[in-house]
Amino acid sequence: MTAKAACTDFLHFFRSWISNPLRVAAIAPSGDSLARIMTSEIAALDGPIIELGPGTGVFTRALLARGVSEADLTLIEYGPEFISSLQARFPTARVLQMDAAHLADADIFEGEPVGAVVSGLPLLSMSPRKIVSILAGAFAYMRPGGAVYQFTYGPRCPVPRPILDRLGLKAVRIGGTVRNLPPASVYRISRRKPLELSRERFSYRESDTEIDDIAAFSNETAAER
Ligand SMILES: C[S@@+](CC[C@H](N)C(=O)[O-])C[C@H]1O[C@@H](n2cnc3c(N)ncnc32)[C@H](O)[C@@H]1O
Repeated sequence: MTAKAACTDFLHFFRSWISNPLRVAAIAPSGDSLARIMTSEIAALDGPIIELGPGTGVFTRALLARGVSEADLTLIEYGPEFISSLQARFPTARVLQMDAAHLADADIFEGEPVGAVVSGLPLLSMSPRKIVSILAGAFAYMRPGGAVYQFTYGPRCPVPRPILDRLGLKAVRIGGTVRNLPPASVYRISRRKPLELSRERFSYRESDTEIDDIAAFSNETAAER
């Protein structure tokens, strides 16, 4: 990427953050160092792949650099301001403007299950019930052995332990970098054992007592920490 393109992306991203700081949750796009760690365990044959919250496409470019076919990518971005540039930059990828919390309801994959989900979502600014819906949706499409790759600026995995336990998932820190603004760590989130997560059961609705129970427990645990 040229310096001019990087500067354009920075301004685009910064303006998005000004207008929606909670959703964008960073003042600048991730750096190449973080993008390399986020995609380091993904290979060309892992496609199809879902990317959540691609923004200006830093991780998308890193996936292509690892040999993943653009046609194997589904980019799910909520921010309307990023959609046209994602479509122009990655014309053969599927770009969907939607809330990642509705993944399970969306029925976006009928064929081959996905090999990996790369997430740039700001989980730290999301409610526990929204995190449950996103993860349950992601794993409903995932093939056995597949994983979600999630970065965080925080000191621990951004998915609270009770949510990992309830969904039968585990999180392992696979790396981190100080060459990012701010410094960040990357977690691989995978199934503890083969498990069929039902999309129906954990879909994101306003009144779902099971999700509320997990969320309440998760909030209590967070308060105790
Ligand atoms: C911290 S930025 C990361 C952008 C990019 N992946 C990067 O690392 O530079 C978070 C991105 O997630 C998007 N986002 C936030 N909430 C979302 C949601 N519920 N569904 C889909 N995308 C969302 C934002 O619009 C933004 O593009």
